[in-house]
Amino acid sequence: STEEKIDSLLSLMTLEEKIGQMVQYSASWDVTGPANDSYNQNKLDNLKNGLVGSMLNVTGVKNTREAQRLNMENSRLKIPLLFAYDVIHGYKTIFPVPLGESASWDLEIMELTARVAARESAASGIGWTFSPMIDVSRDARWGRIMEGSGEDPYLTSLIGVAKIKGYQGDDLSHPTSIAACAKHFAGYGFAESGKDYNTVNIGIHELNNSILPPFKAASEAGVATFMNSFNELDGIPATANSYLQRDLLKGEWNFQGLMVSDWGSIAELINHGYAKDKFQAGELALKAGSDMDMEGAIYENSLKELVQNKVIDIKLVDDAVKRILRVKFQLGLFDDPYKYCDEELEKNELYSSENQEVALDAAKKSIVLLKNDKQILPISGDVKSIAVIGPLADDKDSPLGNWRGQAVPNSAVSVLEGIKNHAPKSVKIRYAKGADLSIGERSFLKPMTINQTDTSGFEKAINLAEKSDLVILVVGEDAYQSGEARSQTDIGFAGVQNELIEAIYKANPNVVMVLMNGRPMDLTWSDQHIPAILETWLLGSQHGNAVGEVLFGKYNPSGKLTASFPRNVGQLPLYYNYKQTGRGNEIPDVTYASYRDSKRDALYPFGFGLSYTEFEYGKIKLSQEKFSKGESIQISIDVKNTGKVKGEEVVQMYLQDLFGSVTRPIKELKGFEKITLNPGETKTVTFKIDEKTIEFFTANQKWEAEKGEFKIYIGTNSRDLQNTSCFYQ
Ligand code: IFM
Repeated sequence: STEEKIDSLLSLMTLEEKIGQMVQYSASWDVTGPANDSYNQNKLDNLKNGLVGSMLNVTGVKNTREAQRLNMENSRLKIPLLFAYDVIHGYKTIFPVPLGESASWDLEIMELTARVAARESAASGIGWTFSPMIDVSRDARWGRIMEGSGEDPYLTSLIGVAKIKGYQGDDLSHPTSIAACAKHFAGYGFAESGKDYNTVNIGIHELNNSILPPFKAASEAGVATFMNSFNELDGIPATANSYLQRDLLKGEWNFQGLMVSDWGSIAELINHGYAKDKFQAGELALKAGSDMDMEGAIYENSLKELVQNKVIDIKLVDDAVKRILRVKFQLGLFDDPYKYCDEELEKNELYSSENQEVALDAAKKSIVLLKNDKQILPISGDVKSIAVIGPLADDKDSPLGNWRGQAVPNSAVSVLEGIKNHAPKSVKIRYAKGADLSIGERSFLKPMTINQTDTSGFEKAINLAEKSDLVILVVGEDAYQSGEARSQTDIGFAGVQNELIEAIYKANPNVVMVLMNGRPMDLTWSDQHIPAILETWLLGSQHGNAVGEVLFGKYNPSGKLTASFPRNVGQLPLYYNYKQTGRGNEIPDVTYASYRDSKRDALYPFGFGLSYTEFEYGKIKLSQEKFSKGESIQISIDVKNTGKVKGEEVVQMYLQDLFGSVTRPIKELKGFEKITLNPGETKTVTFKIDEKTIEFFTANQKWEAEKGEFKIYIGTNSRDLQNTSCFYQ
């Protein structure tokens, strides 16, 4: 069996070789050539001597084959290297950024894009992706909100599982399967005020109820690996947190895969003021359950002494190495260390036309229609001339987003190109950029410098707006305004975009705003003035075509927000599933329980998104009002398409547990179904509630169902709902 093979291999390994498996290097030199300095020479020597378990950032068959050859032909035990890479929303073909894609609420397409990303990266030498990121986040200031699935733990769990299935397939040893990684364990998305890498201070109930469910689901779904997290959690850095890694993940949840640190996060235990030196950092991290050290140089420089001095029990090292070997066995690397090295496949798989089709499908489904006064969209046949304006209108690079794998720069279809591809031939399309949006150097090691003040392009844009029937105004964020270390205090429009928006609107109020961005933005002014707003995120390779199809009614938008859009930055953190205060119920206009100068609710709530058609909800029907252990209630509702075109609707069910041994959120998503309806068609959607549905991490610090009354809410978003009650007894 695999376990016997692992044990027998382990018995042959020296302590140095064991520690070597726990080391992951990033490629800081060209692996096909000589090392360029002594630092890299040392890495190269270690690689040849079988003292490296995994490489990060070596991509392409040529490079991975060569690095593998150096290892296989020189090392004593010939343990294959595992090549890792951040395949976050595509490898060569780029899909929507995860926050955007989550707005599709379409688990099938999200699994499929992960499958295609796995096929492409596997064909290019990669066996391990650091995805999915399943950090729940409630703060649009946090740059990495773009990499997750928004603010809801239930939806994030389902999306995480779909992604894992997509990456890993049915069988990890298949040549198109790669190991997935559930990250960041845990709490990263709850960083104070949305500041990246920052302190997280939450209690045990919030941690278990709001942050951990997606990780538990990932473990149950058989994810091969986990990554821990940069942040501290209530005073203990996650990387050295044994409650998380030993008690829960490897204990209660029985996870058998490997835990990799985040980049240098073991070394960062010293910066946190938690470990006094590299030896204590190594000791604390390994004792807490971190199996592999990503680019931190702590394990390789401390574990030998720690074992020899009996500070660390060799059993802990053995357990970590077994976990690493297990993943390599599961991937089939011992049968064929070159299983991902096929130049022919690499040539045919990457950026294939089939993969572009999938990218287009995912992109369309991710678009959210936020506002559509007087049904200005889809663009009617009466519109004979369109002015396409804005700094992002003909941007072929920003749609690729951050964490864009091996995408070719400037390779996306721009909005302008998409409009030209999809507009009727008789429509006159003219373009003016209006203004620039540049963030200066894109590296996150440099401060962001958005200091454009140049309005000289306004005149041409205004002229064009004045003489056109309709304006499509493409504004938002640069690709690198979101992502790691890209937090912002301001979530409005950078540069001179506000001025541009106002000037264009004054010239011609017939404006469709097309937003491109990686986080919820402050759209209050636009919502008050601009008649139509289309949220298109950063949709990847096929961005413009997806937008074109939606603008001209070839695809009816069906996306729904997975993160609340605030009225202003001061409302953050903002989320629909908040707790009721001692001052009682949610009354949006009463400000004493929140702010006096702003409503308390979102501008666009979680679950919100319009369609070109209308849906009418019938009355909620319950199979019974009361249920006990072992029983369930069926809840059904009829939904009818009362409009003129076919459309998709995400029917959402929320529950409120009225009283609990710990206070409970005002409502929580517990079910949803995405349905397609032709005009006039009605479908019945049925949900089920049983004791699993109502379980939470109680005052007993266990997942339990507590007896009592529950409100059931059903509707089209987290705000516009009808309700009834049921009882668990
Ligand atoms: O996978 C990432 C992680 O999410 C953030 N730090 C770096 C890792 C590897 O690139």
